[in-house]
Amino acid sequence: MTERPYSQAAENNKAPILSVLQQHCQAPGALLEIGAGTGQHAAWLSGRLPHLHWQPSDVAANLPHIRQWLSDPGSQALPPVELDVAAQWPAGPFDYLFTANTFHIMAAPLVETCIREGCRQLTGQGKFLVYGPFNYDGQYTSDSNRQFDQWLKEMDDNRGIRDHEWVVEQFVRQHRQLLADHEMPANNRLLVFGRD
Ligand SMILES: C[S@@+](CC[C@H](N)C(=O)[O-])C[C@H]1O[C@@H](n2cnc3c(N)ncnc32)[C@H](O)[C@@H]1O
Repeated sequence: MTERPYSQAAENNKAPILSVLQQHCQAPGALLEIGAGTGQHAAWLSGRLPHLHWQPSDVAANLPHIRQWLSDPGSQALPPVELDVAAQWPAGPFDYLFTANTFHIMAAPLVETCIREGCRQLTGQGKFLVYGPFNYDGQYTSDSNRQFDQWLKEMDDNRGIRDHEWVVEQFVRQHRQLLADHEMPANNRLLVFGRD
């Protein structure tokens, strides 16, 4: 078997993410993870949130190595399913949606699609949790985020750190409000959207 991909950032941020999820995802339910990446978050977080049915998803090319991570003892995640947010979504409804570090990778229209279609898959009281870097009032929150944004755009001009206000606006269009905005390590945020 080939060596599985590894993300040091996912190792670093998984514990802070867990503490926010423990706060906002107390009721048992189904959680769809969008853009699961290596599968490290799914493998580790699902084992610590056993009251959630953790459904990882990503584009087809990533599913084999996500399966490798999910074979870790302690993972309680379901087998990963294919989800390109621009295409067919898995059948919901879901009580929670979770995505980490995807909004600066997807082009802005794709982020809009993700929010719109994601909200359609949520239960009425469902929550959509979004982890990653964001700008506030058109400003970077750190020099490292500025450099990261430049690096992203050099790779692909459609990529880039999104404005917090723009993201909130997309959710408001789907009748979901910003319930919480958590400061996270390394100049990241964890935004929680839902209905009051
Ligand atoms: C930077 S990685 C983040 C991975 C993981 N969530 C993490 O935090 O380590 C971005 C992820 O977004 C996914 N992605 C990009 N475009 C996508 C799309 N159209 N639909 C679903 N996932 C997408 C990529 O496949 C990748 O797994």
